[in-house]
Formats: sequence, C-alpha cells, structure tokens
Amino acid sequence: MLYVYLLLVSGVMTALIFLAVAVMAIKYRRKPGSQAHQIEGSTILELSWSIIPFGVMLTFFIWGAVIFFEERTPPADATEVYVVAKQWMWKIEHIRGQREINELHVPVGQDVKLIMTSQDVIHSFYIPAFRLKQDVLPGRYTTLWFKATKPGVYHLFCAEYCGTMHSGMGGDIVVMEPQDYAQWLETTPANPLEDTGKQLFANLRCTTCHRSDTQGRGPNLVGIYNKPVLLEDGRTVIADENYIRESIVNPTAKIVSGFKPIMPTFQGLVSEEQLNALVAYVKSLSQPATGTAELQNQPSASPAQTTNTQVQ
Ligand code: CUA
Repeated sequence: MLYVYLLLVSGVMTALIFLAVAVMAIKYRRKPGSQAHQIEGSTILELSWSIIPFGVMLTFFIWGAVIFFEERTPPADATEVYVVAKQWMWKIEHIRGQREINELHVPVGQDVKLIMTSQDVIHSFYIPAFRLKQDVLPGRYTTLWFKATKPGVYHLFCAEYCGTMHSGMGGDIVVMEPQDYAQWLETTPANPLEDTGKQLFANLRCTTCHRSDTQGRGPNLVGIYNKPVLLEDGRTVIADENYIRESIVNPTAKIVSGFKPIMPTFQGLVSEEQLNALVAYVKSLSQPATGTAELQNQPSASPAQTTNTQVQ
C-alpha cells in the first residue's frame, strides 16, 4: 500500500512539475517587441509551495515509521531463542534449554523472537531467504523476529566482517513441521533456560538481596519484566532484556528509586550464556505459568509462501 502511495504521489508531483515547465515555457516565451521586466517575489506563494509539499512528503515518513515499528515489534507470544555470536560460530540456546551450534531448528507457523548478543566483536545475523539482517553486538541485546511459513533449510550468514574466518561463520535455519519440531525438542536433551538461571541466581547469592517474598535490599524482581521502572534520578525505563542484562553487568547504571547502589557488578563473572539464563529466569518471574509449555500443539497453518516476517 505504502509503495503504491509513493508511486502515486511521486507521479503526481512529477506531472505537476513537467506541466508547470511546459506551460511557463510556452506562456513566457520570447516574443518580438516585448520587453523583459523584473517582478518581485510573492511570500505567500513561496511559502505555500514549500510547506504543502513538505507536509505531503512527511506522510511518507509517518506511514513508513508506523510500518517499521509494527514490523520490528515481536509478538508477545513469540517463542524466544537466545543467540550468542563468537569468532567464529553461532551458539543457539532455546528457551527450553536445547543448545545448537550453527543450526537453528524452528517450527513452521510459529513466531520466533531471537535475543542476540556477541561475546567478542560485532557480527551480523543474516538470513537472506527471510529478508532478515541484524547486527549482533557485544555488551547488549539486539532482537529479531520472524515466522517461518515453509519447511526447509535456509542458509544463515554472518554479514559483518569479524576476522579471519568470517566467511565461514554460517549455518542453517531448519524450518520443520510442528510435529517434527516437537519430536526434535523431545529427543534433544535440555534443561529449561529459566531453571539454569534460577540455579545460578541462587549460586551467585542474588537471592540474599532480591527476595521474592518480602522487599529486600534489592528490588523484588517478580513481575518486573516489560514494566516501567522508576529510577532514583527520576527517569522511568522499561524493564526489557537489555535493562535486566545491564543491571547484572553494570548495576549502578540505573538505580531503582528507593534503593542504594550497593550491588556489585557481575561483569566478567558470568558468561554470555549464563547471563542469558539469568535474564530468562528474571523474565520467567513475570509469567503466570512456565510460559514455555504452549508451543507443543501448534496447528499446522501453513500458507504456501516463502518464509518471511510481515512485509507490507
Ligand atoms: Cu561473524 Cu562475520
């Protein structure tokens, strides 16, 4: 739709300009005996031919921005997959704990959200068949989401030069029928990510301050995920994955209102995988049930089109 609108507006604008050029050329052509004379500018005319087209062009931006945000926002019920990039491989961990290297198994017809980070340099997660590409950065999460619509194997590339073996840093996205996927999940041994995180949370003694029963020296983390948090400096931030992650590796960056900056940093003490598990655990505290149980019985609604996110 936006594309048609772009063509239409561009067409009309082009026609107007050409028409004006043609009319002026004929109307004000050189005639024998007529003398050229200077005319003063018209402020109203000049303002209107600047402001009106500007307004028209702005509609491109607004419409485009709306589509961009819709397309970039993962559906709330998307299955989450954690991706850790390193020189030179893709380490994948499913929310239920299945681990893979350079392979990602997903079911057809299911929204999948990738939560990605790098443990060394900048990489880029690129699946040409899905029209998807996103930089994967050290020190923070970037996300992508897609819904595969056709079973098959699609090549994954690293699209950011990251060192000697950059060109070999590829893999496969294996899109399976839901029942095959369920079987794959069954046969791949795993410990749910949030359980790993819960274990870590206890081992790292986070529980001494972040209590779930009463308010401890640190904020109670139950129910905080994706909720606004009031900070000590008056700002309000959304407790998304990046916020939780930052609060672990750089706890003093955003102090929750009413608390003291007493938490030590865990930078360097936990690996990227452990961080992911901790983040998954904190997020699981905001879900009514286990949250990972419902993707078993997905109906096999499969429009016969190539895989993609929504493209308007
Ligand atoms: Cu990783 Cu290029």
